[in-house]
Amino acid sequence: MSGETVSNRNVSCNMLRTKLYVCPVCGNVIHCAGEALVSCCGITLPPLEAEEPDEEHWICVEQVEDEQFLSVRHPMTKEHFISFLAYASADRFQLVKLYPEGNAETRFRLQGRGVLYAFCNRHGLYRRRIP
Ligand SMILES: [Fe+2]
Repeated sequence: MSGETVSNRNVSCNMLRTKLYVCPVCGNVIHCAGEALVSCCGITLPPLEAEEPDEEHWICVEQVEDEQFLSVRHPMTKEHFISFLAYASADRFQLVKLYPEGNAETRFRLQGRGVLYAFCNRHGLYRRRIP
């Protein structure tokens, strides 16, 4: 116990207030719907701050049948890759882990307003809002 107190205002666990943490040592991915003190591999992790995507990290969305196909035109080498794609709406959170040499793509069933996330192992977290 670190002795720090956590004050949670997101008591209804609105997933649009999702916080994501990635351990720089082991690559662990942690999702929280509210405030938390998160540590992994002996390190206290700050929540990732999502940025608006630049061209290299833009999350493309295309309708395919009754789902949405997400893709990021980004390198997928061992040194530099998209590590996960995620989708948060008010009542759900979905995350797909990706691996080097694979494709930076997946399918989600988007349901109304939400947020798409792409995490690059070098450049961090990107967020695209779905109106
Ligand atoms: Fe990148």
